[in-house]
Amino acid sequence: MSSQLEKVKELIELRAEARLGGGEKAIEKQHERGKYTARERIAQLLDEGSFEELDMFVRHRCTNFGQDKKSYLGDGVVTGYGTIEGRLVYVFAQDFTVFGGSLSETMALKICKIMDMAMKMGAPVIGLNDSGGARIQEGINALAGYAEIFQRNILASGVIPQISAILGPCAGGAVYSPALTDFTIMAKGISYMFLTGPKVVKTVTGEDVTQEDLGGADVHSKKSGVCHFAAEDGEHALKIIRKLFSYIPQNNLEEPPLVECNDPIDRLEDSLNDIIPDSPNKPYDMYEVIGAVVDNGEFLEVQSDYAKNIIVGFARFNGQAVGIVANQPKFLAGVLDSNASRKGARFVRFCDAFNIPLVTLVDVPGFLPGTGQEYNGVILHGAKLLYAYGEATVPKVTVTLRKSYGGSHIVMSCKQLRGDMNYAWPTAEIAVMGGAGAVEVLYAKEAKASDNPAKVLADREAEYNKLFCNPYNAARYGYIDDVIEPRNTRFRVIRALQQLATKKVTNPAKKHGNIPL
Ligand code: HXC
Repeated sequence: MSSQLEKVKELIELRAEARLGGGEKAIEKQHERGKYTARERIAQLLDEGSFEELDMFVRHRCTNFGQDKKSYLGDGVVTGYGTIEGRLVYVFAQDFTVFGGSLSETMALKICKIMDMAMKMGAPVIGLNDSGGARIQEGINALAGYAEIFQRNILASGVIPQISAILGPCAGGAVYSPALTDFTIMAKGISYMFLTGPKVVKTVTGEDVTQEDLGGADVHSKKSGVCHFAAEDGEHALKIIRKLFSYIPQNNLEEPPLVECNDPIDRLEDSLNDIIPDSPNKPYDMYEVIGAVVDNGEFLEVQSDYAKNIIVGFARFNGQAVGIVANQPKFLAGVLDSNASRKGARFVRFCDAFNIPLVTLVDVPGFLPGTGQEYNGVILHGAKLLYAYGEATVPKVTVTLRKSYGGSHIVMSCKQLRGDMNYAWPTAEIAVMGGAGAVEVLYAKEAKASDNPAKVLADREAEYNKLFCNPYNAARYGYIDDVIEPRNTRFRVIRALQQLATKKVTNPAKKHGNIPL
């Protein structure tokens, strides 16, 4: 064999060794845990055969605790680039078979390299996390590595989309990289995220809690809001990422992909003319409205189990991706509270950062009153949503279906927050407050002084409702651009979005605003 052939053979052998990560036994163990390996995951995520791996020959440099005698090619993370539906993406996948996927100085360098490339090329970064945290043997160098990653997450925020899948442990400060990215997807049963694990919790607070109850997919998708999508398993998590990408652009200078639309743009949806119940206190399901108006009824909901009083997610109108924000009258009457405000604000800001128009469907009775909310800072949280809408410069189309009262009317993309096209259904009630509350304030004394207080209040309420609880008062002042037939909503939204395609608005130059965090 010529020496060149020998060298080629050596390369092939080294590659094969690298592909085995921590070795066959460790791979078997990973499968027994119900988890795929880093390379299997990348193959599931990307278009077939599109992955180009980098830095396969990197090894750690640590000599502490006998580490110099134990090292693996690739050092516990697989990095590189490939495509999703033909579009370039950069990927890192932590390899739990090597030192539990723990983060070393060199692993951080590998991850930072592809993050830097993604920024240069204007392409998204996807991180597949499965790691025991900082590589303990490397001490402060592992911490420095995390900090390098976080710094890049921060600078890339709003420039390129960043997506995190949690497919195993993600604990300690390591959780902050996913938290800094745009979307976090957790696989049920195999993933957990927490700052301190159950043992530390027990020591510090005395609380007994399992990993799952402390930071499983259920907890973070229902209680904390840290997780945007709870996937059935690891494979499903990667499918969600592919789907999500179909709605978002490569970077902040590009538009989302336009998809061919086979759903007629002028499709009339008669059911919408009769969806609002006669009683203002009866709910209906906002999902039915969304499903009826968007292309083919397709809606990718974000944070579907968190703050269900507001619905956010992606859909298309005539093939154009939009972000939908909608109050849900079926849950807490669609009221805005702290969690709903934070959920809505984060989504609005993502859409605005990445040129995704916003379609807002309004049926909101107000902000949730009470000490629970006030002590929790609903003033600041509500202001987040207000700020997000007010700073957004993407096309904004608002449709008010029914209630739109007081502060919540303003917050939900009203005309003066630079709503571009504000439509209302004939059932809309746009006013400072509801009739019953208003007459209590205005006519309590008059009612008390009369022989029949109930009748006085009822008469006054009817008078108030006639005057204010309709869309025409707002339309009279131009705060509503048109009152539309509900069944024609799809067509009117599409026409509005077409008209707004060339919209150009810039905010005043500044270092950055001070969103009420
Ligand atoms: C080095 C690690 C490691 C780590 C796991 N391993 N975590 N090696 N540094 N952080 C190694 C194990 O020694 C083991 O090696 C292999 O990975 C697999 O781990 P197991 O424990 O056998 O797996 P499992 O039973 O599934 O448990 C997984 C685990 C557990 C829950 C993640 O390993 C664990 O608790 N690890 C420590 C977690 C932790 O405290 N990390 C540091 C947090 S501090 P062998 O050779 O036996 O196969 C931190 C600060 C970050 O991360 C701050 C950033 C700002």
